[in-house]
Amino acid sequence: MTGKVDDAALDALFREARTYSKWQAKPVSDQMLHDLYDLLKLAPTSANAGPARFVFLRSKESKERLRPALAPMNVEKTMTAPITVIVAYDLRFYTQLPKLFPHNTGMAKLYENNPEMVETTARRNSSLQGAYMIMAARALGLDCGPMSGFDQMKVDEEFFAAGKPCFGCDQEFFPEGHVKTNFICNLGYGDASSLFPRLPRLAFNEACSIL
Ligand SMILES: Cc1cc2nc3c(=O)[nH]c(=O)nc-3n(C[C@H](O)[C@H](O)[C@H](O)COP(=O)(O)O)c2cc1C
Repeated sequence: MTGKVDDAALDALFREARTYSKWQAKPVSDQMLHDLYDLLKLAPTSANAGPARFVFLRSKESKERLRPALAPMNVEKTMTAPITVIVAYDLRFYTQLPKLFPHNTGMAKLYENNPEMVETTARRNSSLQGAYMIMAARALGLDCGPMSGFDQMKVDEEFFAAGKPCFGCDQEFFPEGHVKTNFICNLGYGDASSLFPRLPRLAFNEACSIL
């Protein structure tokens, strides 16, 4: 425990941070993407499994592969973003548990025999990891534009279908692919002049209870 972070950090992470649709013409370096992952990977997941997988799209060619899957309202903001991340999850995440959770050898077996638990764990924890990514990006001075307005089947087919190179895995035995898209997120340096006023949030009493 290091105590409370200062107001500047709270502003950067929460109070001043916004969702962006327009971007400054400022690139995001490979080093920045490494720094981003090196932070987000440290945040907690079930059994330390880290089921999320991240595909960073920067090239025009890779963005064009995504375009047909995007909802019309998300096309322009995505094509102009310096980076678009596909936040996905690997349904074979448990094969990494001997490395990531070595003190409990039974854990991988537990998942191996329970596809429902695999799906639930992968979705829950990749969503968390996507949120960690947003907060890590803000901590590094980047802005985000998360999106669920896209056709998941189309993204999965285009980027994770069987036979396509997929995180070094042999996809042969997974006819539909074993990596699935959770959400996508634009990354870059936002154009603050494009922002509208912040929308309201539920008050404590509307969203929380203390029992
Ligand atoms: C998972 C998720 C999906 C979203 N999907 C879309 C989307 O498809 N298109 C869009 O324009 N905004 C999308 N948003 C943006 C939200 O509307 C925005 O984050 C919210 O209104 C808060 O805005 P603020 O951060 O500026 O306060 C999404 C946000 C999240 C977290």
